[in-house]
Amino acid sequence: MNSIEWLGDSVRFLDQTELPLREFYCETPDLSILNDAIVKLKVRGAPLLGICAAYGLLLGIRSARLSSVKIFEQCFESSAQSISATRPTAKNLFWAVERMRKILRLNIHETSSVLFEKLEDEALAIHNEDRHMCELIGKFGSELIPSGAKILTHCNTGALATGGIGTAFGVLLTAHRNEKNIQVYADETRPLLQGARLTMWELMNAGIPATLITDNSAAWTIKTKRIDLIITGADRITANGDSANKIGTYNLAVLAKAHNIPFYIAAPTSTIDISIAHGDSITIEERGAEEIVNGFGRQVAPNDTKVFAPAFDVTPNELITAIITEQGVLRPPYGRSIESTVAQ
Ligand code: MRU
Repeated sequence: MNSIEWLGDSVRFLDQTELPLREFYCETPDLSILNDAIVKLKVRGAPLLGICAAYGLLLGIRSARLSSVKIFEQCFESSAQSISATRPTAKNLFWAVERMRKILRLNIHETSSVLFEKLEDEALAIHNEDRHMCELIGKFGSELIPSGAKILTHCNTGALATGGIGTAFGVLLTAHRNEKNIQVYADETRPLLQGARLTMWELMNAGIPATLITDNSAAWTIKTKRIDLIITGADRITANGDSANKIGTYNLAVLAKAHNIPFYIAAPTSTIDISIAHGDSITIEERGAEEIVNGFGRQVAPNDTKVFAPAFDVTPNELITAIITEQGVLRPPYGRSIESTVAQ
């Protein structure tokens, strides 16, 4: 399954809002349609948003291939601006735009059609590298998983959210493939149910023994089912290790501490943002009230209910046992381990 694919002149993506009921693919040559798909979470997950951003830029500059370099550059910048305005929290999206911009700058003396080819190569490299990073995260993370472990996870971090086998999900999948005999408990992940709709779908497709729980039963599940560890992904990790991830992740980290079990984050280094010192400075996306009050076609609160709907929260670094990246497992103090990893 490819969550997203570059087809030369268009992008094809799996519309994740249709899962688990049907596997429906959209194909579009139009950047505004891809941007809208990002806003509506048809495509989602931090690493996948980086890949989307790179392919989105190609859609935006495609028509300027035969124009002057000045027009090509203007097209690039206006596309970058529109992509950057879709969702604010995942670092990967901005990381990919910056990586593409660097290629543009390095080759600015070339013709527009050569520039397009170089940018196309870069976008494909971003996608391929993500595939490879997921494998490495899976390998390093799996080494931390004891045999027979019962593991709690949150949101969706699998093939749907990345260019490969996933981050936290990649760890679960690798542990399963290594016959560690794991059992996974997946939070449904209110309000948009990425855990129920997407992670359960991926877990069951992979044949990993899995049980769905409601978010508010996490503490009781940890206690009564004797959960051994918790693992989630991340959307942005700051220089001190504070980690933004799907709303509800912070709750789990607090619960892990209360129950004295490890809490792991798995993410590629493209999620790390060393320009931000700590989590208080991360921009947290807020979603509309409609997704809570009228989420899946049924009104569940009175008309005009006032709603606070942050899409992410920030887990303070002191609650994180380790951060699993493609470059290895980072341990506290994160200021130091992150600095030496990102500086490489
Ligand atoms: O709002 P979403 O579905 O894009 O949020 C996704 C998450 O929070 C994931 O846990 C995170 O991006 C890591 S994906 C490997």
